[in-house]
Amino acid sequence: MDSRGLILGIESSCDETSAAVVARGRDQLSNVVASQIATHARYGGVVPELASREHLLNIVPVIRASLADAGVAFADLDAIAVTEGPGLAGALLVGITYAKALAFALGKPLIAVNHLEGHIHAVLLEQAALDEAATPLPALALVVSGGHTHLYLTQQRGDSWHYSNVGRTVDDAAGEAFDKVAKLLGLGYPGGPWIDFLAAHGDPRAVPFSFAQIKSKPHRDNSARSGPASQYLFSFSGIKTAVLRYTQTHSLEASIQARQQALASMSNPRPQDALALCDEETLGLIASFQRAVVDDLRRKTFRAAEELGAASVLVSGGVAANRELRVRFTAEAADHGIPIAFPSLALSTDNAAMIAAAAWPKFLARDFAAEDLSAQASLTLGR
Ligand code: KG4
Ligand code: ZN
Repeated sequence: MDSRGLILGIESSCDETSAAVVARGRDQLSNVVASQIATHARYGGVVPELASREHLLNIVPVIRASLADAGVAFADLDAIAVTEGPGLAGALLVGITYAKALAFALGKPLIAVNHLEGHIHAVLLEQAALDEAATPLPALALVVSGGHTHLYLTQQRGDSWHYSNVGRTVDDAAGEAFDKVAKLLGLGYPGGPWIDFLAAHGDPRAVPFSFAQIKSKPHRDNSARSGPASQYLFSFSGIKTAVLRYTQTHSLEASIQARQQALASMSNPRPQDALALCDEETLGLIASFQRAVVDDLRRKTFRAAEELGAASVLVSGGVAANRELRVRFTAEAADHGIPIAFPSLALSTDNAAMIAAAAWPKFLARDFAAEDLSAQASLTLGR
């Protein structure tokens, strides 16, 4: 019998334990995600030791549920794919150790996947299922999450994918800025969805934020396809400090503390609960912060797409869930006459379907992991 091209993907790089079964890199048969948000929320950030412990508790039930949802048995699988890095070493190791044991016990190949490549394949997976021709290559991929802000020129040669890292953040990731600003304004964790919701109620022109020009080496040739990461640099630590300074110069400390306490007294506070706790000035600050970050991402992404001759733009990672980002990127893409694609909201944040999808070309190329596969906390993608 022909194989169905079934890959079990396992993802445990940060604070979501996820397992998914994907057929031939495009048909999602299941995608189970156990989120640890409740565990880390009270600390306002991911606590690595707690993350590892939660992954240990969740990994077996999550994998079982992913097989049950897909209606397949272990014996039906063609390969096991797991996130190798980047991420928290202890968290990654839980997925890797389990995947290695499973692959060994089943006698199936094991495929190591870079988490960043996974985020790009979150878009490609759904595009392949819809209309592959809608996002021609090379594509300029923006991966924008809590840990990463990267631009990749993405190309396919035969079955294999190639990435050239043409842009990156020099300090905080964009999602990190959302999380830190939300925290300093007394909002919940992770901050992105809170700011996303509240920004829609404020005036984005209320506070004029600007980004400092980041110095970089002049670019040697125009293609950048084989060159080092270069002039498309981001920096998001300054705007976080600017927001903090604004709260101090406008004496917002007392209202921030009151908001924090009010939300802490609720059993399961949601962004909607914070609306009544924010005055117009705070909502304007939030809307202006989001507008500034989204516009900086938008400007550099489209400049890179144009200058590097990309035929489409792909946006993925947790911040790609942001509603204003989607609206403004979509409008800019229309102005440039360049197709753009985002993952569905479920595939924007960390998930294992993207890991199984990214593994499919490697399966075809028989690019299997070595027996000594281990966690690569600082793994990079592309040159
Ligand atoms: O991709 P992801 O789940 O994990 C990482 O690989 O980092 O991204 C999580 C990040 C967090 O910083 C979170 O605040 C942000 O994505 N995020 C958002 C939104 N939803 C999640 N940021 C802005 N707007 C959103 N709607
Ligand atoms: Zn991620």
